[in-house]
Amino acid sequence: MAAVEGASIATMTEPPLALEEVRAFIDPRLDAALAPSPDASPRLLESIRYALLAPGKRLRPALALWAAEAVAPVGMARETAWEAAAAAAIAVEMIHAYSLVHDDLPAMDDDDLRRGRPTCHRAFDEATAILCGDALQALAFTTLAAGMPAATATRSVLVLAQASGPDSLVGGQADDLAVERGWQPDLLSAPADEQVRWLERVHRRKTGELFRAAVALGGLAVQATDERLALLDTYARHFGLAFQIADDLLDAEGNEAVVGKRVGKDAERGKLTFPTVAGHEASRRRAGDLAASARSATDTLGPAAAPLGRLASWIVDRDH
Ligand code: IPE
Ligand code: IPE
Ligand code: MG
Ligand code: MG
Ligand code: MG
Repeated sequence: MAAVEGASIATMTEPPLALEEVRAFIDPRLDAALAPSPDASPRLLESIRYALLAPGKRLRPALALWAAEAVAPVGMARETAWEAAAAAAIAVEMIHAYSLVHDDLPAMDDDDLRRGRPTCHRAFDEATAILCGDALQALAFTTLAAGMPAATATRSVLVLAQASGPDSLVGGQADDLAVERGWQPDLLSAPADEQVRWLERVHRRKTGELFRAAVALGGLAVQATDERLALLDTYARHFGLAFQIADDLLDAEGNEAVVGKRVGKDAERGKLTFPTVAGHEASRRRAGDLAASARSATDTLGPAAAPLGRLASWIVDRDH
């Protein structure tokens, strides 16, 4: 396994330095959150470590930490803001990692490559991958509830639960399967603008809501005002859709060795995606416009929000 991992990382384009800083902060904390306990099944724990510590981009922790930094009270050091948002950053990455493990299962997207490695159910087995996702979801809430001060813990748990539930991530994932499974036959003959609206709703829920939660939790961790939380939310809404359009484009046009997951799968499975419905050029323009809208929300927040602005530009320009 180590040889496979080394080869795949070496071929990946390095993310910008700022994301490396996030990784250096968050990875030891993710590792520490998975300390062995006498009652955890060793195989299950191994699968959780495999899925969570794999070399992802850590975009959701970056959003939580950079959001906290962007809206921290005047005089609060960046390190203090990051520490305050650490539990939020860990929790959103746990929800994300669980969603990837389940997304890759044979009953869903049936993928065998994730983050440059065999998917969890390939490296272990299907039952273990299902349980790994279940465990990561529970661990996210344990981590968040235990790691936030009492004054913000309840609201934070509510935000993350809403972002993960049937109106959000899980609902979007269910509808994402609707076309390929024939659950919504009318959609295939619907006009293109109706398909685009439907797709935006899927993308907003399956992907966008967790990005919104990441910045909201970062903001809540430093007691941001409602006005600043609203600006972060505007940023995250644009960011989320831009991100998923770019993900669809990478599936259609990307290089497997660089992306770290199989490409061409969406078309193969008959999924509706932005490039198939709106065309590649229009999708690229839409993603660029959304990234620009996200950036202007950070301009209003001021210089401490610059990392968020840079990230919005990067996600529509990325190759992985
Ligand atoms: C991939 O997310 C899954 C989607 C929501 C499209 P990322 O591209 O952020 O995946 P990692 O964390 O870098 O592996
Ligand atoms: C997955 O979307 C979104 C979630 C995991 C919630 P995709 O199915 O497009 O993600 P990839 O392309 O497999 O990473
Ligand atoms: Mg999917
Ligand atoms: Mg998938
Ligand atoms: Mg995809």
